[in-house]
Amino acid sequence: MRKTIIAGNWKMYKTLREGQELVIALRRELYQIEDIDIVVCPPYTLLAYLADALETSNILIGAQDVYWQDEGAFTGEVSPVMLKDIGCKFVIIGHSERRQYFGETNESVNNKLKAALRHNLTPIVCVGETLSQRESGKTFKVLDDHIENGLKDITDIDILKIVIAYEPVWAIGTGKNATPQQAQEAQKYIRDLLRKMYNNDIADTVRIQYGGSVKPENITELMSQPDVDGALVGGASLQIETFAEIVKKAAEVKK
Ligand code: PGA
Repeated sequence: MRKTIIAGNWKMYKTLREGQELVIALRRELYQIEDIDIVVCPPYTLLAYLADALETSNILIGAQDVYWQDEGAFTGEVSPVMLKDIGCKFVIIGHSERRQYFGETNESVNNKLKAALRHNLTPIVCVGETLSQRESGKTFKVLDDHIENGLKDITDIDILKIVIAYEPVWAIGTGKNATPQQAQEAQKYIRDLLRKMYNNDIADTVRIQYGGSVKPENITELMSQPDVDGALVGGASLQIETFAEIVKKAAEVKK
């Protein structure tokens, strides 16, 4: 049994006041939800405040990125020690926007993963193809590359602590989600890769989320796929109604 995980990636949205309002409302709406991981990933500026606001709730807090050194002269970066210090439990690593606009590579993803694991942060590592890669039949090749190189030298013990998010780039922020069948096909492929890299038990234990235009209208069907263990939600995580509905519907899907 893999525990469902629904995470909201707020990206570069929300002032402190707006973020506080949203988490207070989420706490109220979702306090009865049990047995799934609910995570919100606000911008760095809000993390410490919202970690406090969510203390003793069933909602966990994550960051959207991390640097791989513990401290040092790295202007603008934030370390895993700092995230841990303020109560962060999760961290998104290798989001396609970071790969696209900020020069993230499999190598930097791998360094960040190891740093997060060293400090007991749960990494949500993002993988997925662009539209042109899909159209030219390279989807599986891209997944091979992201998984094999991104997870290089991650041990049998550490891989169990990682969440993988399959996020086809063409589905992110476009309103056009992958069909449940497309998500299942890619996520089964990722699980089978883990079978080859590790073993059956590990592959059957690692959680794989789907991300890309997840909304209340498509969450149930996506979650009903055997290899979809949760969702990484962007746009729809910015509104109380839509995020709460996604979480509630996901919690209802019996795995
Ligand atoms: P979206 O973003 O839900 O707005 O498509 C998903 C993501 O980037 O994680």
